Amino acid sequence: MSRASVFNLVNHAESMGLKIQAVRGRGYRLAEPTEWLDESAVRQALGDKTDRFGLRILDAADSTNRVLFEAAQQGAPDGSVVVAEHQFSGRGRRGRQWHSVLGGSLAFSVLWRFDAGVAALGGLSLAAGLAVARAVNRHSRYGVKLKWPNDVLLDYRKLAGILVEVQGDIEGPSFAVIGIGLNVRLPPAARDRIDQGVVDLAEMGVTAGRNTLLATCLLELHAVVETMRQEGFRALRAEWEFHHAHAGQPVTLTLPNAQTVSGIAAGVDDSGAFLLRNERGETLAFHGGEISLRPQRSKP
Ligand code: BTN
Repeated sequence: MSRASVFNLVNHAESMGLKIQAVRGRGYRLAEPTEWLDESAVRQALGDKTDRFGLRILDAADSTNRVLFEAAQQGAPDGSVVVAEHQFSGRGRRGRQWHSVLGGSLAFSVLWRFDAGVAALGGLSLAAGLAVARAVNRHSRYGVKLKWPNDVLLDYRKLAGILVEVQGDIEGPSFAVIGIGLNVRLPPAARDRIDQGVVDLAEMGVTAGRNTLLATCLLELHAVVETMRQEGFRALRAEWEFHHAHAGQPVTLTLPNAQTVSGIAAGVDDSGAFLLRNERGETLAFHGGEISLRPQRSKP
């Protein structure tokens, strides 16, 4: 291979987020140890639940949610998973972008089918956040928290984001594609591109590899989805509130029409709606989607 080709390849790898070191007289090497995704390692970690999942590991995808949503419309079964080593056009909530880096992130989506209609899936997005929090807490000595509806935070910095996209009839059946982006080891350049405080698992001292982490998330997602199917979000509410990052704090909600409402964060209701206690002592419920939440006094 010519020097120019090597140079181009190294540049290409760096543009995807890999850190490459040049070693004088010898060549190039990865700056950080990287565990690539491997189906047999994921399946081994899934243990006796492995048959519940159809696993598709892609080298690259624009968005695993887009790929899986399309597959769902064409009949992909419950428990289908799409995971990409490199996601180059990741979608975030509220029309935002989601940045991943090659080898330093987990970007995957899982499809769940429900007999119930989309209206019954209100709490699913919170349940998904809870599943990721449980999964991370299995491998970490720090307890991560949840920002409504489902951001996973450590010290008010974002560790994981979740995008749930649903389709179906009011009466059912319906399906949900749950997309999860988890920061495993973000290089400084990737952090600079993100316009909010971020944290990664490496910083938290988590040593579990990406295959194990993926499997733990899938197992916890499966568990919360089973609970949702049998009992609804009501059965997960107390556990979600235990992880609530803003419980009892003054917060401001920005509504879809850009109006703001302030009050004290008073937890969530049985459908997953955010509860806010206003200055008149009334508790108001705010449902899904376009609400953004920021604490009035942010923590360092
Ligand atoms: C957020 O804005 O917090 C949600 C981010 C969700 C990102 C994940 S990465 C895997 C899946 N595919 C996407 O395009 N988005 C989700």
